[in-house]
Parts: sequence; C-alpha cells; structure tokens
Amino acid sequence: MALNVTVVGVGLVGEAIVSCLKQRNFPCNWPPRVAATRERPETLAGEKMLVQETSAEVFQGADLVLFAGQEGAKGASVTWRETAEKAGAWCIDNGRDFRLADDVPLVVPEVNADAIGETTRFIASPNCSTIQLVVALAPLHREARLTRIIAATYQATSGWGMKGPQELRKQTPGALENQTDIEFDPGVFARPIAFNCIPHIDRFVDADYTREEWKMVHETRKILGDARVRISATAVRVPVFVGHGEAVWIETEKKLSADAAREILRGAPGVVVIDEPDGEGMRTYPTQLDLVNPEYAGMTLVGRIREDTSCAGGLAMYIVADNIRKGAALNVVQVAEILLQRGHLKA
Ligand SMILES: NC(=O)c1ccc[n+]([C@@H]2O[C@H](COP(=O)([O-])OP(=O)(O)OC[C@H]3O[C@@H](n4cnc5c(N)ncnc54)[C@H](OP(=O)(O)O)[C@@H]3O)[C@@H](O)[C@H]2O)c1
Repeated sequence: MALNVTVVGVGLVGEAIVSCLKQRNFPCNWPPRVAATRERPETLAGEKMLVQETSAEVFQGADLVLFAGQEGAKGASVTWRETAEKAGAWCIDNGRDFRLADDVPLVVPEVNADAIGETTRFIASPNCSTIQLVVALAPLHREARLTRIIAATYQATSGWGMKGPQELRKQTPGALENQTDIEFDPGVFARPIAFNCIPHIDRFVDADYTREEWKMVHETRKILGDARVRISATAVRVPVFVGHGEAVWIETEKKLSADAAREILRGAPGVVVIDEPDGEGMRTYPTQLDLVNPEYAGMTLVGRIREDTSCAGGLAMYIVADNIRKGAALNVVQVAEILLQRGHLKA
C-alpha cells in the first residue's frame, strides 16, 4: 500500500521535494497532494499538478506531511502543525520555527538519525548552511572532538527562496552596463546582489550577529549533541544561483593531521573529498558550479583541507553543497526514508 504524502509549499524547496520523491521512487500515491497559499495548476517535477489552497482538507488521510512553506507566526508549519498531527501524519519541517524545541528532533540522516524517538511525530530539518557543515564535521567530531568552529559562508541567492534568484537575474543586465544605481528590492537583499557580496543574511539579533549566524551555532550544537563546542559564523550572500560554500576553521581536542582528516572524510556518509594534487602545482577543490555534476548530486563536497598554521590542533577546509537539495528537500526525503526503514511509516 502506497503512502499518502502532502507537501505544503511549492516554492524552490517544495518543488525539489516533489522531484526527490519521484527520483528516489518514494512509495507514495502519485502525484503527492501539494498545497500552498492559493489554488492553481502548476508544473512540478515536470508534471502538471493541481496545487490546493492549504486547509484542513489537505491533511486528511495523510501519512506524511512535508512542510516547505514560509516560516513565522503566519507560516505553514506554525499554522498547520497541530492539524497535521491530529490527522495522524508524521511531519517533517524545513523551517526554523521548531528546530530548537526540546521535544523536536533536528535531524541530518548521516549524522544523528538516532535522535528520532519512538514517540516522535514531528521532526525538523536544519538550516541549509548547518546541514552541510555537520555532514562534513560530525565524522571529525566523533574522532577528535571539536572544541571550536569558525565559519565564513558564501551563500546562494536561492537560500532566500524564489525571490532571491529573481533579484539576481533582474539586477545583472544593469550591473553589466556599469550602472551605479542598480535598482533593488531591500525586502529581499539589503544591498544590490549582482556582482556584490553582502555580509548580512536574515535580521540582526543578539551581539550584532544575524539570526542566520546564530542558527549555525545553536543547530550545530544540538545536532552534534555537544553544547560545549564554541562556534562563530559570518554568513555572506553571494551572487550565485544554487549552492552554498563555507570556509571553515576547526580546533580539535585530539590533534588530527590534514591527511587523517581526509581519510576520515573519504569514508564518511554523504561526503565527497575533492582535494588532490594535480601534478602541476595545483589542487582539485569543489565550487558551487560542480554541483551540476550528477556524481555529486545530494553530496557534501569538501576540499582545501589543510592544517591551520595559526594554531596547534587546527584544520581549515572548504565545504560546498546544494542548499535546495541536501540543504532542504533531499534531507527531508532522506529522513522520511528512515521512517520507512524503521517501520514508523508502513508502505
Ligand atoms: N531555499 C533554501 O535554500 C532553504 C534551505 C533550507 C530550508 N529552507 C526553508 O524551506 C522553506 C521553503 O523555502 P523556499 O526557499 O522553498 O521558499 P519559497 O520559494 O519562497 O516558497 C515558499 C512556499 O511556501 C508557500 N507558503 C508560504 N506561506 C504559506 C502558508 N502559510 N501556508 C502554506 N504555504 C505557504 C508559498 O506559497 P505560494 O506559492 O502560494 O506563494 C510558496 O509555495 C522555508 O521555511 C525556508 O526557510 C529553505
């Protein structure tokens, strides 16, 4: 018997969830029920589907609800979580609203699938920049215990949702013509994004850090199950369509050489190490554009692994992943696959 799946939100992440369900042959009745703020026909994953207006009806009979709507008080999961749970569905949420709640597991399958308990019905998926960070760092933490993480991110415009890449496209022709007064929507990015980098993602909150930066601190500690790790991040929006890059410096309790870290990461689930000498004084390394290579689909790419010469027991590296796939849609579908494997969902 196939499962009834409802996807709430059909923006960049919602559409990618529908694609992942299809590509991975997830055992659900096809097409899944899809819902957003208003009803309309839409092409998702190459198929025409009727998007319903989200109401109690779309949760009736659902075995699994995947939330990919906007966040906050009027957002999809805050508005509809209770209705979905009362309907008996397992829920997996992409947004930030419940990630840090004590009774909500925050799950990256490669790292902490065991956080899903017998009584869990609602699971959160971390922020995109946190997911790729922990996929790469958890294996090193297990081996050598991380004491400190410093991260500088290079985050794609699609991290903002549909309007992000639209802003980049809209501004680019003018920027190419050397316009100095590029028109931009400050409701999307606070400065022009074409040919620019903006050290500001989400709103400024405590200690002059942004909420995006604090997400990385709190979510990483929760997923690693270690509140002692000291973490500081600077999150930067860059004029890239898809894929986040992260320059990361770590300190560990037990010293790890760069070679040992490469070896651990080569055997780590969901990780591809791209860090080889090419014989001409160059090395291979990952970039956001490499994510189009089907071999790397859904993987976290790690390169530039080297000892940090500024401190004892430190390593530096560069981490790249697709923020829409591994950073959101694929992660929630992988969590759903775990629910199947464990018999919580029965197809
Ligand atoms: N983009 C990323 O890289 C990324 C990564 C990790 C997590 N996330 C999270 O994933 C979620 C979706 O992000 P996105 O990038 O796909 O955003 P998006 O492209 O802006 O799409 C948002 C979707 O949510 C729907 N929606 C908004 N409020 C709703 C409500 N109250 N009830 C039902 N549907 C509602 C919208 O409906 P309409 O189409 O009708 O307007 C739209 O389909 C957000 O919580 C985001 O923080 C995103």
